[in-house]
Amino acid sequence: MPSEPAPPIPSFHVNAIPDPSRTTADDPMAALVGILDLQAALPGIRRMRAWGHEVLAVQPGERTLDIGAGTGTEVLELADRVGPDGDAVGVDPNPAMLAIARGRAETADSRARFVEGTAYHLPFPDDYFHAVRCERVYQHLDDPAAATAEITRVLRPGGRVLLIDSDWHTVIAHPGDPEVVARLSKAMLTTTPNPASGRRLRGLLTAAGFAIDDMGSEAVIWNPETARPLFMQMIASAATGGAITEQEGRALLATMEAGIAKGDYHLSVTMFAVLGHRTS
Ligand SMILES: C[S@@+](CC[C@H](N)C(=O)[O-])C[C@H]1O[C@@H](n2cnc3c(N)ncnc32)[C@H](O)[C@@H]1O
Repeated sequence: MPSEPAPPIPSFHVNAIPDPSRTTADDPMAALVGILDLQAALPGIRRMRAWGHEVLAVQPGERTLDIGAGTGTEVLELADRVGPDGDAVGVDPNPAMLAIARGRAETADSRARFVEGTAYHLPFPDDYFHAVRCERVYQHLDDPAAATAEITRVLRPGGRVLLIDSDWHTVIAHPGDPEVVARLSKAMLTTTPNPASGRRLRGLLTAAGFAIDDMGSEAVIWNPETARPLFMQMIASAATGGAITEQEGRALLATMEAGIAKGDYHLSVTMFAVLGHRTS
């Protein structure tokens, strides 16, 4: 009997490093929002965000901005902190993402507001905000120094900034043939313009004249539900690009699923954060 052709490696058609402007699924927004929501529930992300809000120390009445706000969760948090006399704004270039964030703000009866814009062109006057945060956006930027200059422009003298980002060179995946995993991880670095973003945040702020006040990090450990689509997409695109063979991809998936079934698996990526303030 002829053997059955091997099924294609399944793919969730979501970029390994989520960015709605680069998704390809039939319903990319639903897929992406699902991933962002799963990520937001991870204990590591929650810890990093809680620490970030603590050190950014937003006060009632302040004007605050979240750049690349995504589903808007952190703008809702900022809105709670600034209260009725303050302002909490989320900027994102993706109108569909903005619609989701606005819907969620309305449901939560929040004063958070959302404005279309990019990190390179923030639609606000000079010296306007008391505090700016930007999480997991710099990895998508070709010119992070230009974005940092734009943050400097919209911050008041003395204003605080918190940058948070992943460093995709820190992916740890287990179980699986380490040599295949290494090729897979290397291939994934080509899916975003600034994969080493996490380690560069401090230097960017320093070069822009900010004083550095604190740094944080968290190795975000993904649960199977969250890890599976990322891992499957990594494997599918690495196989398409020739970094691993289809056979290696299928073997890795099977090994990962077996590991998940018996509780012996690990997928993590380290996030770094830098807090600074404008000195002039
Ligand atoms: C990985 S998501 C992170 C969303 C949110 N900050 C979070 O941590 O959940 C990346 C976000 O950056 C936005 N983005 C992509 N390119 C951008 C740019 N040039 N300027 C501002 N935001 C951008 C995307 O639309 C998306 O909402």
